[in-house]
Amino acid sequence: MGMNVLLLGSGGREHAIAWRVSQSPLLSKLWIAPGNAGTLDLGENVTDLKPTDVESVRRFAEEIRADLVVVAPEDPLAAGVVDALAAAGIPAFGPTQAAAEIESSKSFAKDLMAQAGIATSASRAFEDADAATEYVRSLGGPCVVKADGLATGKGVTVCDDADQAVAAIDAAMREGVFGASGARVVIEERMYGRETSAHAFTDGVTVRHMPFSCDHKPVFDDDQGPNTGGMGVYSPPGWLSDADAEAIRIGVTERAVAQMAAQGRPYRGVLYPGMMLTADGPKVVEFNCRFGDPETEVLLPKLRSDLLPILEACAKGTLASVDVEWDDVATVGVMMASGGYPAKYETGKPIEGVGDVDDDVQVFIAGAQRRDGRLVTAGGRVLCVVARGATMEDARARAYDNVRRISFEGAHYRTDIGAKASLPLEFAR
Ligand code: GLY
Repeated sequence: MGMNVLLLGSGGREHAIAWRVSQSPLLSKLWIAPGNAGTLDLGENVTDLKPTDVESVRRFAEEIRADLVVVAPEDPLAAGVVDALAAAGIPAFGPTQAAAEIESSKSFAKDLMAQAGIATSASRAFEDADAATEYVRSLGGPCVVKADGLATGKGVTVCDDADQAVAAIDAAMREGVFGASGARVVIEERMYGRETSAHAFTDGVTVRHMPFSCDHKPVFDDDQGPNTGGMGVYSPPGWLSDADAEAIRIGVTERAVAQMAAQGRPYRGVLYPGMMLTADGPKVVEFNCRFGDPETEVLLPKLRSDLLPILEACAKGTLASVDVEWDDVATVGVMMASGGYPAKYETGKPIEGVGDVDDDVQVFIAGAQRRDGRLVTAGGRVLCVVARGATMEDARARAYDNVRRISFEGAHYRTDIGAKASLPLEFAR
């Protein structure tokens, strides 16, 4: 008997997870809630099931006799979906609500890092707007203001001066633009350097590291323009030394997993520290309690092992007995976005050419629908074209060659994804 699997989420990350899970010989049937146009052919989309509606998820998982529920986004994790499923005896991939606080409370993560001796920027948490304002005025220079709770990736303001920081404090604490998530803010020293995403599978004890990857947040080439949900990604960063990579694996990820266990909040699922390589060494920018998006889109195409038993082993505490092998290749993912994104954009534009890409190139749908048999745009980030290559240059060339075969009115994309993958750091490490 194969496994019944329910996957929660609806983006490019979930399309990539569904793509790999659907290839597993261990799978009986895959449901994706709510899923998207990309997951339609890989299983059954459950479009009316909201991942954050914990009770409905539990009921549906019982109804389909789920052997495993894979929780991809942070919101249902923070809402306690894994706890509710565990209470019903259903194994789930992802941390409990208490363990997900590593992402859902910036101040919890900062305290954890202080206790574990994990390198990060200096910071202070405030629940009083006047005290926070006084503090940033006393700093007088650059800093970072973070809403403590989840804020759909919009709760972080990188400030050049105190006036910007005061405006960010006002928005979070006085105007309430992030709701309860902004009632507390964390004010951090601003770090300078280059960012990379570390991902690892863990069952709370055993840790299996994934390759490093690098997201591109700003909308335009050369990191110009406003931030987005990610315009492209590559793996691995050639500029990351073996010593720094090992320092992150051991000194950050493994140390955090051990500290969570020591605190009675064993951490299971994917742990993804966002890292900054600074002149003083690698430092944590933030912890995420899930797979990154779009990082997942370039990681899973080079996973040689079957994904499903890995996810199951994380959920059941048996990761030590499962192989996690990676192909030694480069991958590049280029996001194609709607005209105007990340500001106002139109949807419903017919997408042409997805069927014309090379057989070994993946097109992961982030925001598109199938309407009357046609694929049409339905979001700001529409799709991510991912190619593998023996070298980064090879992967880049293949990704862009395939991107050029896909079109929709207003489509735009960055042309420099992965271009700096081998550029040495600006400082000695
Ligand atoms: N790549 C950014 C994130 O997933 O949070």
